[in-house]
Amino acid sequence: MSSPSSRSVTFRAEPGRPLQGRVRVPGDKSISHRSIMLGSLAEGVTEVSGFLEGEDSLATLNAFRAMGVTIERPGPGDVRIHGVGMQGLKAPAQALDLGNSGTSMRLMAGLMAGQTFDVTLIGDSSLSRRPMERVAKPLRLMGAVIDTADKGCPPMHIHGQARLKGIDYATPMASAQVKSCLLLAGLYAEGETRVTEPAPTRDHTERMLQGFGYSVQVNGLTCAVTGGGRLQATSIEVPADISSAAFFMVAASIIPSSDIVLEHVGVNPTRTGVIDILRLMGANIALENERVVGGEPVADIRVRAARLHGIDIPEHLVPLAIDEFPVLFVAAAVASGTTRLSGAEELRVKESDRIQVMADNLIAVGVKARATPDGMVIEGGPIGGGQVDSHGDHRIAMSFTVAAQLASGPITIADCANVATSFPGFVALASAAGMTVTEATA
Ligand code: S3P
Repeated sequence: MSSPSSRSVTFRAEPGRPLQGRVRVPGDKSISHRSIMLGSLAEGVTEVSGFLEGEDSLATLNAFRAMGVTIERPGPGDVRIHGVGMQGLKAPAQALDLGNSGTSMRLMAGLMAGQTFDVTLIGDSSLSRRPMERVAKPLRLMGAVIDTADKGCPPMHIHGQARLKGIDYATPMASAQVKSCLLLAGLYAEGETRVTEPAPTRDHTERMLQGFGYSVQVNGLTCAVTGGGRLQATSIEVPADISSAAFFMVAASIIPSSDIVLEHVGVNPTRTGVIDILRLMGANIALENERVVGGEPVADIRVRAARLHGIDIPEHLVPLAIDEFPVLFVAAAVASGTTRLSGAEELRVKESDRIQVMADNLIAVGVKARATPDGMVIEGGPIGGGQVDSHGDHRIAMSFTVAAQLASGPITIADCANVATSFPGFVALASAAGMTVTEATA
């Protein structure tokens, strides 16, 4: 049987009705990955609810099963992990295939560097083009022995038996994956591993380590762990993913008369840049019922239609909205006036080159968009129908589904199978909320 993302999936989307009702999008991808990793290495049984059953987080789950961890899935979104302790992983029989998932590869590189056995990490064609030296280089400074392939891309061969030692490392780019990789390697290192980032990035690793009873020192942009400790099993309730909710936030903002509530969304301040940017553009977004669940802030998010206007996106918000720019570009395309983004060169090394692919696709449906080396300039105006290509990038596929809701004709979106990496059930949920989108599989 072919894996879901080897199928060819095309979306066809066109204007629907105003978005209404209450919507719960699937669980947070970043938190889901980390729950498997830390649960596997903990002592005792970790129960996870709200787990994202998307291909990316399932790639992590399957990788840990392949290293001997018993992981049960008793019901939808429920995962029970029988932790093996810090030294309990076993050599996998073959290379670990992490599919489309950069988070799996970069975070696991840190953990694998501390094992006694050799591991090879591989991925699909998109992941095989993504830069891995950003983690391999500092891991080597810690004493890891790692080979990457041509241009520093996967496969990554990580040799076991390395004696890791803590380092004090300043990450050159704002990346939660690099920070998390080094903290996870630091669990196996002698002494303290200290990471300083140029700007705040998502802090789920730091929070979850503490939830498993592991001490993490956080001081401004620096965080540190000392190796040699243990993780104690816990229970984790994964909130809905704000990155998935973002498609509904933009759709409800731009489709006249919309009024929806997105339930139980993670609103960790290192992830809420999308709300700040939309509000600066004039969006009507209210956080209701704010609470803290398992160490992560959560809220219901009410979004009502509003007239959006273009802005210069403040650069400090870029790392806090890094996955939401494809759909924010759609908001900019229908806003009045000009939106400018700069300082976002990291978008060029995501699942696709999100600056070039979004600019090409926006232009294909009549939007005045211009790619720059580190961002985009977009003049708001009408969107036409036409054909676009997501280049296998889940967030680009979903962004053009949103764009089509205001287009003058249908938009056909090619290469959408990877929507299943982060948002299984997207077409059904978007349709139930009011969008018009159908899916054809070949
Ligand atoms: C993630 C960090 C971000 C983000 C990715 C998930 C994480 O990547 O784009 O979707 O879970 O740590 P970078 O650290 O490369 O910015």
